[in-house]
Amino acid sequence: MEAVKLGIAGFGTVGTGLADIMSENRTMLEKRLGRTIEIKTVAVRNLDKPRGHALAETTELTTDLDKLVNDPEIDIVVELMGGLEAARTLISKALAAGKHVVSANKHLLAEHGPELFALARENNCFLSYEASCAGGIPVVQTLRESLAGDRIEGMLGILNGTANYILSEMTTKGMDFETALQQAQDLGYAEADPTFDIEGFDTAHKLCVLIRLAFGVDYPLNMLPIQGITSVTPLDIEFAREFGYRVKLIAHANSSDHGVEAGVHPALVPYTYLLARVGGNYNAVRIEGNAVGPVMLHGQGAGDRPTGSAVLADILCIVRHLTQCGADSGFIPDNTGFGNAPLKQAQIMPPEKTMSRYYFRFMVADKTGVMAAITRSMADHGVSIAQAVQKGEPDLDAVPLVIITHTTEARAAQAVAKEIDAMDFSLEPCVRFRIL
Ligand code: NAP
Ligand code: HSE
Repeated sequence: MEAVKLGIAGFGTVGTGLADIMSENRTMLEKRLGRTIEIKTVAVRNLDKPRGHALAETTELTTDLDKLVNDPEIDIVVELMGGLEAARTLISKALAAGKHVVSANKHLLAEHGPELFALARENNCFLSYEASCAGGIPVVQTLRESLAGDRIEGMLGILNGTANYILSEMTTKGMDFETALQQAQDLGYAEADPTFDIEGFDTAHKLCVLIRLAFGVDYPLNMLPIQGITSVTPLDIEFAREFGYRVKLIAHANSSDHGVEAGVHPALVPYTYLLARVGGNYNAVRIEGNAVGPVMLHGQGAGDRPTGSAVLADILCIVRHLTQCGADSGFIPDNTGFGNAPLKQAQIMPPEKTMSRYYFRFMVADKTGVMAAITRSMADHGVSIAQAVQKGEPDLDAVPLVIITHTTEARAAQAVAKEIDAMDFSLEPCVRFRIL
């Protein structure tokens, strides 16, 4: 049987990881598929850049993305460039030309998913994206296929390898933020612009993709509350440890009759939770289905081979389909898992109504009445204190004062922060994280 031919756009961390696995597992792949997969064309920006994988002599290296679209021999276009406009144009053209597409681009899917899924539907094409969320963890397949019979009630997880690597290194080795970020970049975990990782945007992109798969609605990215990890200091990591927590960048989404409540933020995770033990570039997702109960997925969330593995799984799924049904079967792939009608926009629960416990750290002048003023403000807003500690030392002008609250509304926690920040003894804006 004829080989299936790929056109790959982007040959950086993920592209070379994919090619490595395809070479390494060639025999096993042929055994599974009964046919070969060939990389016909690879498009990059710079032809002279050294590559981590030696391409076959028959593979063309080009800077012309249109070659992938216009070549009738190419069955599947694999988009591994990242970014928005060039990727959007390439994928749109490929789908319009009737080519199946595999992409790892969560940013593009979060921003332009509805339009691209509609185009895929019109052209009876797969638009597959397992690698876009949580690297090597098969969470897309799990939500779309394995848990398709469940009503998903909620999801909670760590979805960014870079941020988790930074927080883990800061926690376990006392490494500074910048060094840990540089290491994550050197290891190929970070986005081309690492601001996406550390400011929580990459996690937010993935959460939008997962919300679509879990709840069958579109959650507009610009309505998602997002807080990254740049406000997490070694001092907070140490306080968290003393109270029995680890600081993690958490994505969460819950669905009820009142709508979807979702967000991305650093949180204190009880030391005894599995999520607290997820270290380095690993990610984890806890999915709660109404029939299955809780399901926990754990694995490497970033890096060349884990991500390449997810891309390859999507390619195999398409090759199997082509082999069994042929190219013109009229079969319409269900790329979102909720049929082929456009998804509705989510009914969004106001974030200020979210209930949570909170960690507050105030930096205050060490003087009489400070604790009384803070506790009074909390009481005035109905925020109940569970634990408090002040680490004062003689001759220190500024001292950290940490308060752990009982469960309270986000609106009240925000009002307390605003009021106390404005008091004359507050030496810097307070730090406020949720507690799981
Ligand atoms: P990368 O190492 O920066 O590689 C990007 C590749 O795309 C490079 O080969 C680059 O060419 C090429 N490229 C960029 N713009 C192009 C254009 N306009 N025309 C032609 N080629 C272009 O990125 P990556 O880490 O592999 O990530 C690729 C995608 O996978 C992104 O969407 C990312 O979010 C996603 N992803 C990454 C990971 C990970 O762990 N790294 C995990 C999951 C998902 P040159 O080499 O010539 O510059
Ligand atoms: N930059 C991303 C991360 C890559 O660190 O998780 C995987 O999507």
